[in-house]
Amino acid sequence: MMLTSSAMFQSEYDRDSELKAFDDSKKIRRIFIHPKSNLPAESGSPVSLLGIPLIDLDGVDNKGTLRAQIIDEVRDAVLEEMMDGIRGFHEQDTEVKKQFYVREFKRKVSFVSNFELFHAPVATWKDTLACAMAPNPPDPQELPAVCRDIVVQYIKQVKGLSYTLFELLSEALGLDANHMKDMECAEGIFLLGHYYPVCPEPELTLGARKHTDTSFLTVLVQDQVGGLQVLHENQWIDAAPIPGAIVINVGDLLQVITNDRFKSIEHRVLANRRLGPRVSVAGAFGTSFLRSSRLYGPIKELLTEENPPKYKEATLRDHVAHLKGKRV
Ligand code: OGA
Ligand code: NI
Repeated sequence: MMLTSSAMFQSEYDRDSELKAFDDSKKIRRIFIHPKSNLPAESGSPVSLLGIPLIDLDGVDNKGTLRAQIIDEVRDAVLEEMMDGIRGFHEQDTEVKKQFYVREFKRKVSFVSNFELFHAPVATWKDTLACAMAPNPPDPQELPAVCRDIVVQYIKQVKGLSYTLFELLSEALGLDANHMKDMECAEGIFLLGHYYPVCPEPELTLGARKHTDTSFLTVLVQDQVGGLQVLHENQWIDAAPIPGAIVINVGDLLQVITNDRFKSIEHRVLANRRLGPRVSVAGAFGTSFLRSSRLYGPIKELLTEENPPKYKEATLRDHVAHLKGKRV
């Protein structure tokens, strides 16, 4: 993957022999090597799924069984097609990907290798196609042709799912079902199509560093390769792929508006040690891409004398800046 980005802008050298030398070496460059303390222990016993709640949303919409079954099938087809679309983007000719390449997320549609390269201390082993899909979606023509139709369709589906989730979360807190939707929690969507190439020295680097998401919620679909881990009571737990399951992460902004009732979850992705690439699609709701001047703070109805606000009213961008500043 670094091959793609680092080689992209230099034409005067012998690319083929340099690529071959790099590939033959089966070594990763120094910039990818993470401190040992951030890497999994070699003999660590893998803990699977312990404590990650698995929730079956079947029937949540109270639709007839046949209808629910059809919806299921359509949904599964959409998930699969979306993963294929993202894989297709990353595996197409470099010349095509180049048109979307930027160093950071500056455009509505950007292809980035190591979007944190200049902010993070160490690089990670993945590439990302990022699309700011709401509230101001790109013109479909701006989306890569190989995944254009499915991205548009996927966003519709995932937005519907997010409405259901925000309703359930609102009700779980004793609020009106529409409370979070009315706060526009589902109105900003940043879509990240990740591609984790096989890494020749996976024990030295990571696919994604430990982080929390700067969203209200992130809806994550992963293929069957695995590597996602969540930090629970100071222990890394594998969020092993389950066919048909979608991972929902609580993000920083949900933590703010619930005054810490729902805490954002720290997670990371191990460098890919399998035989083939790993693909995942993260839909982040309400990211700082929502350049709204609207102020957000803990929901008033949740506050009491014993539970005073832990956060000030601020724009989403300011909350993100504040929280990230504190935690990095
Ligand atoms: C993310 C993320 C995990 C994954 O995009 O924020 O954590 O499995 N992705 O790709
Ligand atoms: Ni994340």
